[in-house]
Amino acid sequence: MSAVNANAEDSSNFHPHGLFESTAEMELKLRNVAVEASGADPYFLGYIGREPVAYGFLRGWSEGYPDAFLGIAVRRERQGQGLGREMTMHLIRTAAAAADKGASHQLKLSVYMTNTRAVNLYRSLGFRLTAHPRRGGEFLGVLDLTPWMSKSSRS
Ligand SMILES: CC(C)(COP(=O)(O)OP(=O)(O)OC[C@H]1O[C@@H](n2cnc3c(N)ncnc32)[C@H](O)[C@@H]1OP(=O)(O)O)[C@@H](O)C(=O)NCCC(=O)NCCS
Repeated sequence: MSAVNANAEDSSNFHPHGLFESTAEMELKLRNVAVEASGADPYFLGYIGREPVAYGFLRGWSEGYPDAFLGIAVRRERQGQGLGREMTMHLIRTAAAAADKGASHQLKLSVYMTNTRAVNLYRSLGFRLTAHPRRGGEFLGVLDLTPWMSKSSRS
């Protein structure tokens, strides 16, 4: 997560796995990202030049879940510049391409209700947010991928 330079607020909003506390740990985690990216679940780092600015993933498929869950974080100094939207759209297109090949037509996420930026971003891209059935204070987000799929595979 230091790859995208989290502060305490970002870390409390985004903790899908252990966060990176030091440069050494970050390098290790980035290697893990590269390793995990070769599995069923895609993990992406977005760069501007050589600077890693955005992190995003789809996960769940490798554990056997039918619907992938999306996660995203943008380097703090780079937030509010459209990168979160760009990475989220990349993840949606990736999930839609998988749906074209037979994967689920739904993409999911969970987000804290207080995380206004993320909530606005997800809603603007068409996610339907409802109170999470098991996690208080969080929304469960569901996106119908059909409009993002190729016409020939929509059904
Ligand atoms: C949530 C996050 C990924 C958004 O990325 P970003 O690059 O800052 O967002 P963008 O610049 O692409 O903006 C996308 C949308 O977010 C919303 N948004 C952005 N900044 C906002 C702000 N200050 N207040 C409210 N909404 C805001 C808007 O809807 C915006 O769309 P618009 O530009 O058409 O108005 C980023 O803030 C982040 O990394 N936060 C910490 C980690 C996190 O919370 N991840 C999500 C966990 S579910």
